[in-house]
Amino acid sequence: MQRHEFSMKIGVFDSGVGGLSVALAIERALPEYEIVYREDREHVPYGTRTSEEILGFVVPIFADMIELGCSTIVVACNTVSTTIIGPLRKQFPDTVLIAMEPMIKPAAIRTRTGVIAVCATPATLTSQRYAELKRQFASGLTVLEPDCSDWAGMIENGEVNVRIIADRINRILDAHADMIVLGCTHYHWIQEEIRVLAEGRATVLQPEHAIVRQVKKLL
Ligand code: DGL
Repeated sequence: MQRHEFSMKIGVFDSGVGGLSVALAIERALPEYEIVYREDREHVPYGTRTSEEILGFVVPIFADMIELGCSTIVVACNTVSTTIIGPLRKQFPDTVLIAMEPMIKPAAIRTRTGVIAVCATPATLTSQRYAELKRQFASGLTVLEPDCSDWAGMIENGEVNVRIIADRINRILDAHADMIVLGCTHYHWIQEEIRVLAEGRATVLQPEHAIVRQVKKLL
């Protein structure tokens, strides 16, 4: 039997289980590539940590993926992408780093009520990059940022409390948000619950298709 030779490896990184959904989507779209998935079980969740801490955790993991032959790494973590992508690009100039950021632009284009909601970690929501995205694409809109600080931890530990999620989502729906941006890859695993809650009132934007398109374009 002929052995299948991989022409290239793509690294996919997230603090935990969030990036798995991204890795699976890339694997489905590009079966000829080998996906090297790395997470940081020891330090997840990242969303309540400082940029310095996160950088310290991520650099050795990226170095390891590069050592394994990944010349492209998908940063399947909005928290890492919005807080430390600049320093990472400096540290690894020969590696293509594909960042994932909250989908504010498509939400801003599609909203009819002028109210969008971004569900993301505290680190993402307080990052300069996120502020820039809002300035660039959502000035003049109302951007709601529900408190999702405990969501990644709940998902990581398999302890999803639907009542907590429903409470936050219902509040943004009552405030007329018609676009809900899932700005943390962990939320992939609760997107169905959110879609059911939002049914008929808001569209849930989730980044997997967009990131697969970008990976294909860059390879
Ligand atoms: N999955 C990550 C993100 O996209 C972060 C979750 C966390 O570690 O807090 O932001």
